[in-house]
Amino acid sequence: MIIRDATPDDAAQACAVLRASIIDLCVADHRNDPGILSRWLANKTPENVAAWACAEGASLLVAVEGDAISAVGGLTHPGEITLNYVSPQARFRGVSSALLAELERRAAAHGACDVALLSTETAHRFYLARGYVDVGVPAGKFGTAASYPMSKALALAS
Ligand SMILES: CC(C)(COP(=O)(O)OP(=O)(O)OC[C@H]1O[C@@H](n2cnc3c(N)ncnc32)[C@H](O)[C@@H]1OP(=O)(O)O)[C@@H](O)C(=O)NCCC(=O)NCCS
Repeated sequence: MIIRDATPDDAAQACAVLRASIIDLCVADHRNDPGILSRWLANKTPENVAAWACAEGASLLVAVEGDAISAVGGLTHPGEITLNYVSPQARFRGVSSALLAELERRAAAHGACDVALLSTETAHRFYLARGYVDVGVPAGKFGTAASYPMSKALALAS
């Protein structure tokens, strides 16, 4: 597996990964509620993903195995993780851990001292196990019961 910057050519496949990850893996969050799913998925279009790949002040990363994209990660510089979605077929094989580590490296390279994100219920345990702490009151997003504001201090390079 390699992790690299996404290009607009990745948009269709990366978008499909984002949508499958939300629909199939985040059931604890959306509970198959059509309204929540429709709000969550509304901006996950190939056109938007292509634009995110070219956006100033942000990084869109893909984890790639062979010809297949297995996960998509997003960072708004310097240190806000906006996307971290693994394909259902690639779950629990270390892909998100590797992608998260690269997002953190990118954040550090952009001068961030810490990284912030809003975790799903689905991924909350994953982030806790990777050094993130809750930093605010959980609040619903897209109509979900709880999203968790989390943060992690980055180790300073010596
Ligand atoms: C939870 C999730 C993020 C983990 O990604 P992954 O690529 O499958 O994870 P990895 O293989 O890198 O690491 C496995 C970790 O998942 C977590 N995990 C294991 N089983 C789990 C389960 N049944 N449910 C939730 N998390 C689990 C553990 O923290 C595990 O870490 P450990 O090996 O140190 O115990 C992913 O499976 C997922 O469901 N993503 C859905 C999209 C999402 O919610 N993204 C976050 C947006 S903020």
